[in-house]
Amino acid sequence: MKEKLRIYGNERLEGEVAVSGGKNAAVAIIPAALLADSPSTIENIPDINDVHVIIEMLKWLGAHVDFRDNTLWVDPRTVDKFNPPYELAGKMRASYYLAPVLLGLFHRAEVPLPGGCDIGARPIDQTIKGMCTLGAKVETLGGVLVATADEMLGGDIFLDMPSVGATVNSMLTAVSASGLTCIHNAAKEPHIVDLANFLSSMGAYVKGAGTDVIRIRGGRQLHGANYTVVPDQIETGTLMIAAAAAGDDVLITGAIPTHMESLSAKLLEMGVNVASEDDWIRVRSNRVFRAVNVKTQGYPGFPTDLQQPLSALLTVANGTSIVTETIFESRFRFLDELRKMGANVRTIESSAIITGVNHLVGSRVNATDLRAGAAMVVAGLMAEGVTEIGGVSYILRGYERIDEKLKSLGAHIERIQYEDPLL
Ligand code: EPU
Repeated sequence: MKEKLRIYGNERLEGEVAVSGGKNAAVAIIPAALLADSPSTIENIPDINDVHVIIEMLKWLGAHVDFRDNTLWVDPRTVDKFNPPYELAGKMRASYYLAPVLLGLFHRAEVPLPGGCDIGARPIDQTIKGMCTLGAKVETLGGVLVATADEMLGGDIFLDMPSVGATVNSMLTAVSASGLTCIHNAAKEPHIVDLANFLSSMGAYVKGAGTDVIRIRGGRQLHGANYTVVPDQIETGTLMIAAAAAGDDVLITGAIPTHMESLSAKLLEMGVNVASEDDWIRVRSNRVFRAVNVKTQGYPGFPTDLQQPLSALLTVANGTSIVTETIFESRFRFLDELRKMGANVRTIESSAIITGVNHLVGSRVNATDLRAGAAMVVAGLMAEGVTEIGGVSYILRGYERIDEKLKSLGAHIERIQYEDPLL
Protein backbone atom coordinates (compact mmCIF):
# COMPACT_ATOMS: atom_id res chain seq x y z
CA MET A 1 0.00 0.00 0.00
CA LYS A 2 1.12 3.52 -0.74
CA GLU A 3 -0.03 6.71 0.89
CA LYS A 4 -0.96 10.16 -0.26
CA LEU A 5 -2.13 13.32 1.45
CA ARG A 6 -5.33 14.92 0.28
CA ILE A 7 -5.80 18.56 1.21
CA TYR A 8 -9.00 20.53 0.67
CA GLY A 9 -7.50 23.99 0.37
CA ASN A 10 -8.45 27.40 1.57
CA GLU A 11 -9.51 26.43 5.11
CA ARG A 12 -8.43 28.94 7.77
CA LEU A 13 -5.90 27.70 10.35
CA GLU A 14 -6.34 28.84 13.92
CA GLY A 15 -5.30 27.69 17.39
CA GLU A 16 -2.28 26.21 19.06
CA VAL A 17 0.21 23.60 17.88
CA ALA A 18 3.28 22.13 19.60
CA VAL A 19 6.64 21.55 17.92
CA SER A 20 8.29 18.11 18.11
CA GLY A 21 11.92 17.35 18.90
CA GLY A 22 14.57 18.11 16.31
CA LYS A 23 15.12 15.49 13.60
CA ASN A 24 18.63 16.55 12.70
CA ALA A 25 19.59 16.80 16.37
CA ALA A 26 18.10 13.39 17.22
CA VAL A 27 19.82 11.57 14.36
CA ALA A 28 23.20 12.84 15.60
CA ILE A 29 22.56 12.35 19.32
CA ILE A 30 21.25 8.78 19.06
CA PRO A 31 24.48 7.36 17.52
CA ALA A 32 26.52 9.39 20.04
CA ALA A 33 24.79 7.50 22.87
CA LEU A 34 26.69 4.37 21.78
CA LEU A 35 29.94 5.96 23.02
CA ALA A 36 28.84 5.68 26.67
CA ASP A 37 29.62 2.91 29.15
CA SER A 38 26.05 2.95 30.51
CA PRO A 39 22.49 3.57 29.25
CA SER A 40 21.14 6.97 28.20
CA THR A 41 17.56 8.23 28.32
CA ILE A 42 16.81 10.78 25.64
CA GLU A 43 13.49 12.63 25.66
CA ASN A 44 11.69 14.61 22.97
CA ILE A 45 12.81 12.28 20.18
CA PRO A 46 10.48 12.80 17.20
CA ASP A 47 8.51 9.71 16.19
CA ILE A 48 9.49 9.81 12.51
CA ASN A 49 10.75 7.31 9.97
CA ASP A 50 14.39 8.46 10.06
CA VAL A 51 14.45 7.83 13.82
CA HIS A 52 12.93 4.37 13.34
CA VAL A 53 15.65 3.50 10.83
CA ILE A 54 18.45 4.61 13.13
CA ILE A 55 16.92 2.66 16.01
CA GLU A 56 16.85 -0.46 13.80
CA MET A 57 20.54 0.10 13.05
CA LEU A 58 21.37 0.38 16.75
CA LYS A 59 19.51 -2.85 17.45
CA TRP A 60 21.27 -4.57 14.56
CA LEU A 61 24.62 -3.48 16.02
CA GLY A 62 23.65 -5.16 19.31
CA ALA A 63 22.34 -2.28 21.46
CA HIS A 64 19.28 -2.65 23.66
CA VAL A 65 16.77 0.03 22.78
CA ASP A 66 13.33 1.02 23.97
CA PHE A 67 11.40 3.81 22.24
CA ARG A 68 8.01 4.92 23.44
CA ASP A 69 6.20 8.22 24.02
CA ASN A 70 9.05 10.12 22.34
CA THR A 71 11.55 8.82 24.89
CA LEU A 72 14.45 6.65 23.82
CA TRP A 73 16.38 4.46 26.21
CA VAL A 74 19.63 3.08 24.80
CA ASP A 75 21.95 0.58 26.47
CA PRO A 76 25.10 0.44 24.32
CA ARG A 77 27.01 -2.10 26.40
CA THR A 78 26.09 -5.03 24.18
CA VAL A 79 27.08 -3.42 20.87
CA ASP A 80 29.39 -5.91 19.16
CA LYS A 81 29.30 -5.08 15.43
CA PHE A 82 30.89 -2.32 13.39
CA ASN A 83 29.16 -2.83 10.03
CA PRO A 84 25.49 -1.80 9.77
CA PRO A 85 23.79 -3.28 6.69
CA TYR A 86 23.15 -1.40 3.47
CA GLU A 87 19.39 -2.11 3.66
CA LEU A 88 19.19 0.19 6.70
CA ALA A 89 22.13 2.58 6.25
CA GLY A 90 21.16 3.37 2.65
CA LYS A 91 17.76 4.66 3.78
CA MET A 92 19.00 7.85 5.42
CA ARG A 93 21.66 10.50 5.38
CA ALA A 94 22.67 10.37 9.03
CA SER A 95 23.65 6.68 8.99
CA TYR A 96 27.25 7.75 8.41
CA TYR A 97 27.27 9.36 11.88
CA LEU A 98 27.78 5.78 13.03
CA ALA A 99 31.19 5.65 11.33
CA PRO A 100 33.16 7.78 13.83
CA VAL A 101 31.24 6.22 16.73
CA LEU A 102 32.02 2.64 15.70
CA LEU A 103 35.60 3.65 14.87
CA GLY A 104 35.95 4.97 18.42
CA LEU A 105 34.53 1.76 19.89
CA PHE A 106 36.16 -0.89 17.68
CA HIS A 107 39.05 0.88 15.85
CA ARG A 108 37.18 -0.11 12.72
CA ALA A 109 33.92 0.93 11.08
CA GLU A 110 32.32 -0.26 7.87
CA VAL A 111 29.30 1.89 7.06
CA PRO A 112 27.54 1.92 3.69
CA LEU A 113 27.64 5.35 2.07
CA PRO A 114 24.70 7.44 3.21
CA GLY A 115 21.37 7.77 1.44
CA GLY A 116 18.89 10.53 2.24
CA CYS A 117 17.01 13.04 0.13
CA ASP A 118 18.25 13.48 -3.43
CA ILE A 119 18.77 17.23 -3.29
CA GLY A 120 22.26 17.52 -4.75
CA ALA A 121 25.64 15.83 -4.93
CA ARG A 122 26.16 15.67 -1.14
CA PRO A 123 29.84 14.64 -1.10
CA ILE A 124 31.48 13.46 2.14
CA ASP A 125 35.07 14.57 1.48
CA GLN A 126 35.06 16.88 4.52
CA THR A 127 34.02 14.04 6.82
CA ILE A 128 36.83 11.90 5.44
CA LYS A 129 39.32 14.74 5.84
CA GLY A 130 38.27 15.26 9.46
CA MET A 131 38.63 11.60 10.36
CA CYS A 132 41.99 11.31 8.56
CA THR A 133 43.31 14.43 10.31
CA LEU A 134 42.80 12.66 13.63
CA GLY A 135 44.68 9.55 12.50
CA ALA A 136 42.09 7.33 10.82
CA LYS A 137 42.65 5.61 7.52
CA VAL A 138 39.47 5.99 5.48
CA GLU A 139 38.59 4.39 2.16
CA THR A 140 35.40 3.88 0.23
CA LEU A 141 35.27 0.30 -1.00
CA GLY A 142 32.31 -0.98 -2.99
CA GLY A 143 30.00 1.75 -1.71
CA VAL A 144 31.11 1.25 1.91
CA LEU A 145 33.00 3.76 4.03
CA VAL A 146 35.75 1.75 5.72
CA ALA A 147 37.58 3.54 8.53
CA THR A 148 40.37 2.07 10.64
CA ALA A 149 42.63 3.54 13.31
CA ASP A 150 44.95 2.00 15.90
CA GLU A 151 45.23 5.28 17.73
CA MET A 152 43.60 8.64 17.17
CA LEU A 153 45.15 11.94 18.24
CA GLY A 154 43.51 15.36 18.43
CA GLY A 155 44.41 17.92 15.76
CA ASP A 156 43.24 20.91 13.77
CA ILE A 157 40.46 20.19 11.27
CA PHE A 158 39.83 22.96 8.74
CA LEU A 159 36.51 22.43 6.98
CA ASP A 160 36.29 23.89 3.48
CA MET A 161 32.69 24.88 4.20
CA PRO A 162 30.59 24.80 7.39
CA SER A 163 29.12 21.38 6.63
CA VAL A 164 26.65 20.04 9.19
CA GLY A 165 27.52 16.41 8.49
CA ALA A 166 31.28 16.95 8.55
CA THR A 167 31.02 18.97 11.78
CA VAL A 168 28.98 16.21 13.44
CA ASN A 169 31.38 13.50 12.24
CA SER A 170 34.44 15.50 13.28
CA MET A 171 32.95 16.02 16.75
CA LEU A 172 32.10 12.33 17.08
CA THR A 173 35.63 11.38 15.99
CA ALA A 174 37.26 13.95 18.26
CA VAL A 175 35.67 12.67 21.48
CA SER A 176 37.49 9.36 20.95
CA ALA A 177 40.84 10.94 19.96
CA SER A 178 43.32 11.75 22.75
CA GLY A 179 44.12 15.41 23.26
CA LEU A 180 42.70 18.60 21.83
CA THR A 181 40.86 18.84 18.52
CA CYS A 182 39.85 22.19 17.03
CA ILE A 183 37.22 22.09 14.29
CA HIS A 184 37.59 25.32 12.29
CA ASN A 185 34.82 26.74 10.07
CA ALA A 186 32.34 24.52 11.92
CA ALA A 187 28.62 24.53 11.20
CA LYS A 188 26.65 26.54 13.78
CA GLU A 189 23.17 25.02 13.42
CA PRO A 190 21.08 24.42 16.56
CA HIS A 191 21.52 20.66 16.10
CA ILE A 192 25.32 21.07 16.35
CA VAL A 193 24.90 22.87 19.68
CA ASP A 194 22.48 20.18 20.82
CA LEU A 195 24.93 17.39 20.00
CA ALA A 196 27.64 19.30 21.88
CA ASN A 197 25.35 19.63 24.90
CA PHE A 198 24.54 15.93 24.82
CA LEU A 199 28.23 14.99 24.58
CA SER A 200 28.97 17.34 27.50
CA SER A 201 26.23 15.72 29.56
CA MET A 202 27.97 12.37 28.82
CA GLY A 203 31.17 13.79 30.34
CA ALA A 204 32.93 15.03 27.20
CA TYR A 205 34.84 18.32 27.05
CA VAL A 206 33.26 20.30 24.21
CA LYS A 207 33.51 24.09 23.94
CA GLY A 208 32.58 26.62 21.29
CA ALA A 209 29.65 24.83 19.60
CA GLY A 210 27.51 27.49 17.91
CA THR A 211 30.65 29.44 16.92
CA ASP A 212 33.09 28.91 14.04
CA VAL A 213 35.55 26.92 16.15
CA ILE A 214 34.63 23.91 18.28
CA ARG A 215 37.25 22.62 20.71
CA ILE A 216 37.04 19.06 22.00
CA ARG A 217 39.40 17.40 24.45
CA GLY A 218 38.93 13.74 23.64
CA GLY A 219 39.77 10.40 25.15
CA ARG A 220 37.57 10.65 28.25
CA GLN A 221 35.39 7.72 29.31
CA LEU A 222 31.84 8.82 28.53
CA HIS A 223 28.81 7.79 30.57
CA GLY A 224 25.12 7.56 29.77
CA ALA A 225 23.07 10.72 30.22
CA ASN A 226 19.51 11.94 30.62
CA TYR A 227 18.85 14.47 27.93
CA THR A 228 16.06 16.34 26.14
CA VAL A 229 16.41 17.10 22.43
CA VAL A 230 15.86 20.70 21.23
CA PRO A 231 12.66 21.60 19.36
CA ASP A 232 12.86 21.09 15.61
CA GLN A 233 13.92 24.34 13.96
CA ILE A 234 12.66 23.30 10.54
CA GLU A 235 9.32 21.95 11.74
CA THR A 236 8.84 25.23 13.64
CA GLY A 237 9.58 27.16 10.47
CA THR A 238 7.30 24.97 8.37
CA LEU A 239 4.44 25.55 10.82
CA MET A 240 5.14 29.30 10.78
CA ILE A 241 4.98 29.33 6.99
CA ALA A 242 1.82 27.20 6.96
CA ALA A 243 0.28 29.59 9.49
CA ALA A 244 1.20 32.57 7.31
CA ALA A 245 -0.14 30.81 4.21
CA ALA A 246 -3.52 29.77 5.53
CA GLY A 247 -3.83 31.07 9.06
CA ASP A 248 -5.60 33.81 10.89
CA ASP A 249 -3.92 33.46 14.25
CA VAL A 250 -1.71 30.48 15.15
CA LEU A 251 0.33 29.94 18.31
CA ILE A 252 3.31 27.63 17.93
CA THR A 253 4.44 26.33 21.31
CA GLY A 254 7.53 24.50 22.55
CA ALA A 255 9.68 26.41 20.06
CA ILE A 256 12.94 28.34 20.38
CA PRO A 257 12.23 31.76 18.80
CA THR A 258 15.92 32.73 18.55
CA HIS A 259 16.48 29.79 16.17
CA MET A 260 13.85 31.28 13.87
CA GLU A 261 15.12 34.83 13.48
CA SER A 262 16.04 34.60 9.78
CA LEU A 263 12.57 33.28 8.91
CA SER A 264 10.71 35.63 11.27
CA ALA A 265 12.51 38.59 9.63
CA LYS A 266 11.49 37.38 6.15
CA LEU A 267 7.87 36.85 7.17
CA LEU A 268 7.74 40.32 8.73
CA GLU A 269 9.19 41.74 5.50
CA MET A 270 6.39 39.94 3.63
CA GLY A 271 3.79 41.61 5.84
CA VAL A 272 3.07 38.72 8.21
CA ASN A 273 2.71 39.54 11.88
CA VAL A 274 5.17 37.43 13.93
CA ALA A 275 5.50 37.82 17.69
CA SER A 276 7.41 35.63 20.13
CA GLU A 277 8.50 35.23 23.69
CA ASP A 278 10.06 32.46 25.79
CA ASP A 279 9.05 29.26 24.00
CA TRP A 280 6.22 30.38 21.73
CA ILE A 281 5.77 32.10 18.40
CA ARG A 282 2.48 33.68 17.32
CA VAL A 283 1.81 34.12 13.62
CA ARG A 284 -1.05 36.33 12.47
CA SER A 285 -1.71 36.68 8.79
CA ASN A 286 -4.15 38.44 6.50
CA ARG A 287 -2.81 36.28 3.66
CA VAL A 288 -1.64 39.25 1.62
CA PHE A 289 2.11 39.09 1.07
CA ARG A 290 4.83 41.30 -0.33
CA ALA A 291 7.44 39.65 -2.56
CA VAL A 292 10.92 39.30 -0.99
CA ASN A 293 14.36 38.06 -1.99
CA VAL A 294 15.88 35.15 -0.10
CA LYS A 295 19.30 33.51 -0.17
CA THR A 296 19.99 30.27 1.68
CA GLN A 297 22.98 30.08 4.00
CA GLY A 298 24.27 28.14 6.97
CA TYR A 299 22.92 29.14 10.39
CA PRO A 300 22.19 31.89 11.38
CA GLY A 301 21.41 32.60 7.72
CA PHE A 302 18.20 31.51 6.03
CA PRO A 303 18.10 27.67 6.13
CA THR A 304 18.03 25.71 2.88
CA ASP A 305 15.52 23.37 4.56
CA LEU A 306 12.97 26.22 4.64
CA GLN A 307 13.66 27.47 1.13
CA GLN A 308 11.09 25.17 -0.45
CA PRO A 309 8.18 25.88 1.95
CA LEU A 310 8.88 29.63 1.75
CA SER A 311 9.07 29.47 -2.06
CA ALA A 312 5.60 27.91 -2.04
CA LEU A 313 4.32 30.87 -0.01
CA LEU A 314 5.99 33.35 -2.38
CA THR A 315 4.00 31.98 -5.34
CA VAL A 316 1.05 34.09 -4.13
CA ALA A 317 2.99 37.20 -3.01
CA ASN A 318 2.42 40.54 -4.74
CA GLY A 319 5.36 41.08 -7.07
CA THR A 320 8.43 39.10 -8.04
CA SER A 321 10.68 37.32 -5.54
CA ILE A 322 14.16 35.98 -6.20
CA VAL A 323 15.11 32.89 -4.20
CA THR A 324 18.75 31.89 -4.40
CA GLU A 325 19.77 28.40 -3.29
CA THR A 326 23.46 28.25 -2.37
CA ILE A 327 23.62 24.91 -0.52
CA PHE A 328 21.93 22.15 -2.57
CA GLU A 329 21.79 22.48 -6.35
CA SER A 330 18.78 20.17 -6.85
CA ARG A 331 16.45 21.83 -4.39
CA PHE A 332 14.41 23.52 -7.13
CA ARG A 333 13.01 20.35 -8.70
CA PHE A 334 9.78 20.79 -6.75
CA LEU A 335 9.08 23.98 -8.71
CA ASP A 336 7.72 21.77 -11.52
CA GLU A 337 5.09 20.56 -9.05
CA LEU A 338 4.23 24.12 -8.03
CA ARG A 339 3.83 25.03 -11.71
CA LYS A 340 1.17 22.32 -11.99
CA MET A 341 -0.73 24.30 -9.37
CA GLY A 342 -0.50 27.49 -11.40
CA ALA A 343 2.66 29.05 -9.96
CA ASN A 344 4.60 31.42 -12.18
CA VAL A 345 8.19 30.33 -11.60
CA ARG A 346 11.34 30.04 -13.65
CA THR A 347 14.93 29.34 -12.69
CA ILE A 348 18.11 31.06 -13.76
CA GLU A 349 21.16 29.13 -12.54
CA SER A 350 20.83 28.87 -8.77
CA SER A 351 17.94 31.33 -8.47
CA ALA A 352 14.19 30.90 -8.78
CA ILE A 353 12.27 33.88 -10.07
CA ILE A 354 8.80 33.68 -8.57
CA THR A 355 6.11 36.08 -9.75
CA GLY A 356 3.07 35.96 -7.53
CA VAL A 357 -0.28 34.79 -8.88
CA ASN A 358 -3.72 35.46 -7.37
CA HIS A 359 -4.17 31.91 -6.18
CA LEU A 360 -2.91 28.35 -6.67
CA VAL A 361 -5.20 25.63 -7.96
CA GLY A 362 -5.45 22.23 -6.28
CA SER A 363 -3.71 19.50 -8.33
CA ARG A 364 -2.11 16.07 -8.14
CA VAL A 365 1.52 16.62 -7.22
CA ASN A 366 4.47 14.71 -5.78
CA ALA A 367 6.81 15.28 -2.88
CA THR A 368 10.20 14.99 -4.57
CA ASP A 369 12.02 15.15 -1.22
CA LEU A 370 11.21 15.84 2.43
CA ARG A 371 11.11 19.65 2.37
CA ALA A 372 9.60 19.66 -1.12
CA GLY A 373 6.79 17.66 0.47
CA ALA A 374 6.41 20.35 3.13
CA ALA A 375 6.26 22.93 0.34
CA MET A 376 3.48 21.00 -1.39
CA VAL A 377 1.55 20.90 1.90
CA VAL A 378 1.88 24.69 2.21
CA ALA A 379 0.76 25.08 -1.40
CA GLY A 380 -2.16 22.69 -0.87
CA LEU A 381 -3.34 24.63 2.19
CA MET A 382 -3.46 27.86 0.16
CA ALA A 383 -4.85 26.43 -3.07
CA GLU A 384 -8.42 26.53 -4.29
CA GLY A 385 -9.76 23.01 -4.62
CA VAL A 386 -8.23 19.66 -3.75
CA THR A 387 -4.53 18.85 -3.80
CA GLU A 388 -3.28 15.27 -3.65
CA ILE A 389 0.35 14.82 -2.69
CA GLY A 390 2.14 11.57 -3.52
CA GLY A 391 5.51 10.55 -2.04
CA VAL A 392 4.19 10.95 1.51
CA SER A 393 6.94 8.65 2.84
CA TYR A 394 9.36 11.53 2.24
CA ILE A 395 7.29 13.82 4.43
CA LEU A 396 6.96 11.24 7.19
CA ARG A 397 10.74 10.88 7.33
CA GLY A 398 10.96 14.25 8.97
CA TYR A 399 7.62 15.55 10.22
CA GLU A 400 5.93 13.92 13.18
CA ARG A 401 2.13 13.62 12.73
CA ILE A 402 2.10 16.59 10.34
CA ASP A 403 -1.41 15.74 9.15
CA GLU A 404 -2.81 15.55 12.69
CA LYS A 405 -1.10 18.76 13.73
CA LEU A 406 -2.52 20.70 10.79
CA LYS A 407 -5.91 19.11 11.29
CA SER A 408 -5.91 20.30 14.92
CA LEU A 409 -5.51 23.84 13.52
CA GLY A 410 -8.52 23.42 11.27
CA ALA A 411 -6.95 22.17 8.04
CA HIS A 412 -9.00 19.73 6.01
CA ILE A 413 -6.35 17.10 5.37
CA GLU A 414 -6.55 13.32 5.01
CA ARG A 415 -3.95 10.57 4.78
CA ILE A 416 -5.14 8.08 2.18
CA GLN A 417 -3.83 4.58 1.54
CA TYR A 418 -4.07 3.20 -1.97
CA GLU A 419 -2.87 0.31 -4.11
CA ASP A 420 -0.21 1.29 -6.62
CA PRO A 421 -1.41 -0.19 -9.94
CA LEU A 422 2.21 -0.50 -11.11
CA LEU A 423 3.23 -2.78 -8.23
N1 EPU B 1 29.58 19.50 1.29
C1 EPU B 1 30.73 19.15 0.60
N2 EPU B 1 31.52 18.18 1.14
C2 EPU B 1 31.24 17.58 2.32
C3 EPU B 1 30.08 17.95 3.02
C4 EPU B 1 29.27 18.91 2.47
O1 EPU B 1 31.02 19.68 -0.46
O2 EPU B 1 32.02 16.70 2.74
C5 EPU B 1 28.71 20.56 0.75
C6 EPU B 1 27.33 20.02 0.35
O3 EPU B 1 27.34 19.55 -0.97
C7 EPU B 1 26.45 21.23 0.53
C8 EPU B 1 27.09 21.95 1.72
O4 EPU B 1 28.42 21.47 1.80
O5 EPU B 1 26.55 22.06 -0.59
C9 EPU B 1 26.38 21.77 3.05
O6 EPU B 1 26.11 20.40 3.27
P1 EPU B 1 25.99 19.80 4.75
O7 EPU B 1 27.09 18.84 4.93
O8 EPU B 1 25.89 20.92 5.73
O9 EPU B 1 24.63 19.03 4.69
P2 EPU B 1 24.29 17.61 5.29
O10 EPU B 1 25.05 17.39 6.54
O11 EPU B 1 24.33 16.59 4.23
C10 EPU B 1 22.40 18.51 6.86
C11 EPU B 1 20.98 18.17 7.12
C12 EPU B 1 20.15 18.61 5.92
C13 EPU B 1 20.33 20.11 5.72
C14 EPU B 1 21.81 20.45 5.58
C15 EPU B 1 22.09 21.95 5.52
C16 EPU B 1 21.06 16.26 8.56
C17 EPU B 1 20.87 14.81 8.74
N3 EPU B 1 20.84 16.74 7.35
O12 EPU B 1 22.77 17.81 5.67
O13 EPU B 1 18.80 18.34 6.25
O14 EPU B 1 19.66 20.51 4.56
O15 EPU B 1 22.55 19.92 6.70
O16 EPU B 1 21.60 22.57 6.64
O17 EPU B 1 21.37 16.97 9.50
C18 EPU B 1 16.56 17.91 5.79
O18 EPU B 1 16.39 17.88 7.02
O19 EPU B 1 15.62 17.92 4.95
C19 EPU B 1 17.92 17.94 5.29
C20 EPU B 1 18.23 17.65 4.04
